[in-house]
Amino acid sequence: SLDDGTETPHGALKLRVVAVSHHSDSLFHFQLERDPGFRFRSGEFAMLGLPLGGVPFRAYSIASAVWDDTLSFYSVKVPNGPLTSQLQYLRPGDSVLLKRKTTGSLVCDNLRPGTRLVLLSTGTGVAPFASLVLDPAVYDQFESVVLVHGCRTEADLRFAHELEARIRDDRLVDSVVQGRFRLVTTTTRELGHPSRRITDLLYDGSWHRGLAQPALDSRVDRVMICGSRAMLKDTRLHIEALGFDEGTRTRPGSYVVERAFVD
Ligand code: A2P
Repeated sequence: SLDDGTETPHGALKLRVVAVSHHSDSLFHFQLERDPGFRFRSGEFAMLGLPLGGVPFRAYSIASAVWDDTLSFYSVKVPNGPLTSQLQYLRPGDSVLLKRKTTGSLVCDNLRPGTRLVLLSTGTGVAPFASLVLDPAVYDQFESVVLVHGCRTEADLRFAHELEARIRDDRLVDSVVQGRFRLVTTTTRELGHPSRRITDLLYDGSWHRGLAQPALDSRVDRVMICGSRAMLKDTRLHIEALGFDEGTRTRPGSYVVERAFVD
């Protein structure tokens, strides 16, 4: 059992799992019921744990919309991770602990006003962007939103493709977005396909030419980056060379960055 009756710590909620979906050997997605009092800003992360003694809380980006009835999370399965090694066995009806306080740098408040929002992610780094691209406020602030997402294989892109379908198929979301969301994907280890990292698409400009859109321009574009440590390093070097400056809570900028959390 993933519940040994351990007391729920102060400031945490105990929430039921409503759905679990295993995308591959290494990726899964789960949904929790939402406490009506639980609030967050699109792009933030929360601390998750299990009602099991000795299992630590870990940071997880919230992948669902602020207006959703459920909270969703997208995770890797790490065999030795103190939390994900357990979380991957979750089933509907189990309980997860969630701390009430959320935080994170991938929020629109940390960016100056702009016209195009460009979201750059690899792997589970796409999770906070799912929340952002489903937020009507984001489409009030930006004329268009582009999500550029890189994974090892086509199978790993399922989360992003489902997100794109949801934006298209949900009448309310679609009426706000009105064709202003675009998804660009790339893979690096798909058999029979050339390996193209997200950084390759940035260097050669193919991500924007494929959309018939202009190149990155720090005067009008705002960028958010979320991926592995190595991806962040290479991507921020590139966009800083283009004149982008990092934003913070106290000093908004033209880009923000956060490492995708891995247990
Ligand atoms: P690659 O297959 O060439 O390592 P992971 O599953 O290891 O987190 O990787 C997710 C994706 O991020 C993979 O496609 C991986 O490519 C890519 N990636 C890894 N390092 C970098 C980097 N420094 N810059 C851009 N993409 C990267």
